[in-house]
Amino acid sequence: MILNVNIDHVATLRNARGGTEPDVLEAALISEAAGAKGIVCHLREDRRHIKDADVYNLKNNISTRLDLEMAMYDDIIALALDVVPDLVTIVPEGRQELTTEGGLDVIAIQHELITLCKKMHDKGIEVSLFIEPDKTQVEIAKSVGADMVELHTGTYANLTETSRQNGELIRINEATLFADSIGLKVAAGHGLNLDNTANIAKIKQIHELSIGHSIISNSIKYGLEATVKKFISIIESN
Ligand code: PXP
Repeated sequence: MILNVNIDHVATLRNARGGTEPDVLEAALISEAAGAKGIVCHLREDRRHIKDADVYNLKNNISTRLDLEMAMYDDIIALALDVVPDLVTIVPEGRQELTTEGGLDVIAIQHELITLCKKMHDKGIEVSLFIEPDKTQVEIAKSVGADMVELHTGTYANLTETSRQNGELIRINEATLFADSIGLKVAAGHGLNLDNTANIAKIKQIHELSIGHSIISNSIKYGLEATVKKFISIIESN
């Protein structure tokens, strides 16, 4: 299992003052040097953190894989086809939300997804769909041509009662095993932190974790390099 670092909130901090500090690319390079195997950024419709130029800059300068998170807006699809990241992760997006609030309903948008997967594949870009850990969603993800599913761990992360949290872990485990059995690569992410990542890291068929907010937050305490190493050590010790 590998760690992909989401650097959106480096851009959030930069944009708070409108300047160039902290530097998004530098954060990506530090994460790579600390052992991250991929860099994730979410280009939102409102460009609230990552800007178009950041995506190009990351693509041209990182040495691991670039995962561009995006919703299916025409201009962002066009940008993805121009940048050619290694992977696009398709997410639902609402203007009012503070962060991505749940998985895609792939059943409702299967026709659009078939077209999108074809466009991305023609450029050699892999497609991941961010979904709830649900067997039907996994099945449809496979049928529209996705290469990977990223299972939403936000519900698991937000639950405080152990029995309910364990129930959600079972759902994530079952969805992972099913996706793996039908030939989909599996990623997981949202809300993962230094306390709750270990349980997810125990699910061996998950190929990668996508973690952002907690890494950037803990960087204030430990520094970015040390924080990335802490997450990698959790992954490797489980
Ligand atoms: N995966 C997806 C699809 C996301 O939208 C996000 C948030 O941008 C993450 C993972 C990372 O979530 P967090 O910032 O809570 O670690």
